[in-house]
Amino acid sequence: MSKVIIFADPHMIPEGATIAGIDPAARLAAGIAHVNTWHGDAAWAVVLGDLAHGGDPASYQRIAALLGELVLPVAIIPGNHDDRAALRAAFPDAAVDADGFLQQVIELPEARLLLLDTLHPTPGQMPDGRHSGRLCPARMAWLEQRLAESAAEDRPVLIAMHHPPHATGFANMDTIRLENGPSFHALLARYPIVRHITCGHVHRSISGIHRDIAFTVFKSTAHQQPAIFDDEDSSLSVDEPAAYGLLQIGPQGVIAHSEDFELAGVDRSRRRATTGDAL
Ligand SMILES: [Fe+2]
Repeated sequence: MSKVIIFADPHMIPEGATIAGIDPAARLAAGIAHVNTWHGDAAWAVVLGDLAHGGDPASYQRIAALLGELVLPVAIIPGNHDDRAALRAAFPDAAVDADGFLQQVIELPEARLLLLDTLHPTPGQMPDGRHSGRLCPARMAWLEQRLAESAAEDRPVLIAMHHPPHATGFANMDTIRLENGPSFHALLARYPIVRHITCGHVHRSISGIHRDIAFTVFKSTAHQQPAIFDDEDSSLSVDEPAAYGLLQIGPQGVIAHSEDFELAGVDRSRRRATTGDAL
């Protein structure tokens, strides 16, 4: 069984700044320490977009230094807050496809994990100021090629992407999800080998099934989305505990865990219930 760690939406900011009263650097550092302590045997860590809140070089340098502490190989994809050029400058070894998008294939013994770049071609954000995502024709072609290859090899496929390709129940975030989600799902329907989709963007723990494909949205390693379903403001943020995601990938399927590392602390794991009762 393979383990993959998911760091969603770290939203790094310059030193001394805060978001919703919290320091994203301190939280990410605690998450990295927790992973290094308890999951150093994971195959990969995937940073699922929104690496820098303002897309600025200083924040990218800051998060690159933190991620350098991980004992795992790290893969990154961009989110709507990122500037692709600045991100690539700070991570010169990051994998890119032939068109310069931050997309790659991670081969695991049990499945093939496809990382997709859903950042709109305009660096930073949509021309009208919105933060929705899009898979342009070049990226859709890349995806179709990978799906066709995987189908021919009878390899199960998992997908990780920043923007959810369908609604997740929050009015504010649903308006800025992947714009061409229906086309994306129509493509996947032609290659019924995709087992699970991992997303960020919403800053909440959400799971379910859409068009017969299971999905999990993971919380941010920084600030979270409040449980308000009908507000149109996509900048709502609250200081709720941070988490990272952990996928256990086996020959029969995927198990998705959300680890609230701030609540747990790095020393919590060996404690046992004093009553002796099972959970
Ligand atoms: Fe985000």
